[in-house]
Amino acid sequence: MEEERVITNHVLEMDDQIDNSIRPETIDEYIGQSEVKENIKVFIEAAKMRDEVLDHVLLYGPPGLGKTTLAYIIARELGSNIKTASGPSIEKSGDLAAILSSLEPGDVLFIDEIHRMPRYIEEILYPAMEDFSLDIIIGGDGNSRNIKIDLPPFTLVGATTRAGDLSSPLRDRFGIVSKLQFYTVEELTQIIERTSRVLMMPILKEASTELAKRSRGTPRIANRLFRRVRDFALVEGKEQIDLEVMQKALKRLRVDENGLDETDHQLLEAIIRKFNGGPVGIEALASSIGEEISTIEDVLEPFLLQQGFLKRTSRGRIATEKAYQALHFNYQNSIFQDFI
Ligand SMILES: Nc1ncnc2c1ncn2[C@@H]1O[C@H](COP(=O)(O)OP(=O)(O)OP(=O)(O)O)[C@@H](O)[C@H]1O
Ligand SMILES: [Mg+2]
Repeated sequence: MEEERVITNHVLEMDDQIDNSIRPETIDEYIGQSEVKENIKVFIEAAKMRDEVLDHVLLYGPPGLGKTTLAYIIARELGSNIKTASGPSIEKSGDLAAILSSLEPGDVLFIDEIHRMPRYIEEILYPAMEDFSLDIIIGGDGNSRNIKIDLPPFTLVGATTRAGDLSSPLRDRFGIVSKLQFYTVEELTQIIERTSRVLMMPILKEASTELAKRSRGTPRIANRLFRRVRDFALVEGKEQIDLEVMQKALKRLRVDENGLDETDHQLLEAIIRKFNGGPVGIEALASSIGEEISTIEDVLEPFLLQQGFLKRTSRGRIATEKAYQALHFNYQNSIFQDFI
């Protein structure tokens, strides 16, 4: 499981290609995130009524919650073409200038991982977003001059797992800023049932609910687990996924009753065993489990915090009683040991 978490991982890219068939294409197929969805619907309709482009949109939240999916849906609902780029792939200011000057009126420009764009490149976006103009410097050697090129009106949709890493001048230029939330068990159940229909592998209600509970509030994980469980069912000659095969598969995949996987276990266990339950600083924690700080902060922690397995204090991370229970450690004993 561990390597599947890595955002740029090859396995994941392959999975996401398969995912294209199960990716919702219209806003009504997009399950959950009702607040974000309802707001965006209104803004799209208003922009259409005024015959203007939609204001720039920033989508943020943990990986796999549907930012890319929503960006494509926004373009589709607007009836616009979408051009895509990703923060780390824009290495020179000329790269961004080329992308911007290729835009057609009304286009959606989707920049994924927008927080990973270097600051000096980011500055090119400011006039582009504000006035639809591109300021470029031509020539050199004391002979350079600034020229201003008009761009067609367009909508920038930026996605990031780290809104905090975005500079404030960039963040302030987005008229619509939406945070995606973890999905509820009911919503994930709907997503799993939809995937089951698309992939033509029936799943019993009790199995889909249980799978939803173990999907870390994340559609990408729900879909991935569904595919793996489907493999187990297939090999066992089952024509539908029942609770038994689901539980067996998840045991083999080392996903526990709470949806925590091996990496979650490693993290919580390190806090409990090596740091007496915390508080422990993020650097010490990261090196003790051999993970990047950013992976802990962006991928692992958000769900653990939201579910109350972990607490963040000014002195560091603390494992809660719920974490001790989930990992079958004795909470009372450990508190007691602190005092003797
Ligand atoms: N609201 C939803 N309804 C149904 N399926 C969804 C929804 N959101 C996401 N999915 C499914 O989950 C998968 C992952 O979503 P997506 O790639 O959009 O996440 P992301 O937020 O862009 O992740 P990352 O931060 O890693 O780029 C999609 O391929 C899609 O199948
Ligand atoms: Mg994405």
